[in-house]
Amino acid sequence: MEGTAPKTHRIAVLTGGRGRGSNLRAIHRHFESLGFPATVALVIGDREQTPVRELCQELKLPFVYVPSKDMQSYEAEVIRLVKEQRIELIALAGFLKLLSADFLLRIQVPVLNIHPSLLPKYGGAKMYGMRVHEAVFASGDKESGATVHEVSPVYDAGRIVLQRKVDISDCKSCEEIAGKVLKIEHQIYAEAILQYLKAKQ
Ligand code: GAR
Repeated sequence: MEGTAPKTHRIAVLTGGRGRGSNLRAIHRHFESLGFPATVALVIGDREQTPVRELCQELKLPFVYVPSKDMQSYEAEVIRLVKEQRIELIALAGFLKLLSADFLLRIQVPVLNIHPSLLPKYGGAKMYGMRVHEAVFASGDKESGATVHEVSPVYDAGRIVLQRKVDISDCKSCEEIAGKVLKIEHQIYAEAILQYLKAKQ
């Protein structure tokens, strides 16, 4: 209809103790510059003081602290906030705890995660962050990459949404691999989110 502004899609980012906020920043930047009506409307962190909270202040994004020591009350509060804030998609970035089948059923919005490897390789419990890159480096693989997948109640086992490879044959350390993979993460997470939001329109 003429004169009607398009609805702005509302995204929530869930982060945990190991979150640095780099994917949050990349997602925020992508939607700020894209001209597509979507915004990070809520960031939920399970630590009171984190670099992500400081980043939210810098980017003027609403940060809500929800402790996750008791996962049942964490999940209940996330569901409440998502409904209250009319969130349409949840993106996990550095949130490493398992979400329950009950939560995934009740939340009623897509829940995505980013993982720093070419899943199903180097996935599963205890495989996160630098541990993944150390394993890839030790294996001598010539390529790595990042994967965006739907969250399931089993670690890194949900449907793969988007995956991109990167050549690591010249990498001399796991830190070098991590740097290359992180660049890929920052490209594909926002792309995957966009796919979901466009499919909703
Ligand atoms: C990212 O590298 C992400 O791939 C990883 O945590 C980091 C969070 O960084 N997640 C996992 O390893 C999940 N198994 P960020 O806070 O800078 O986005």
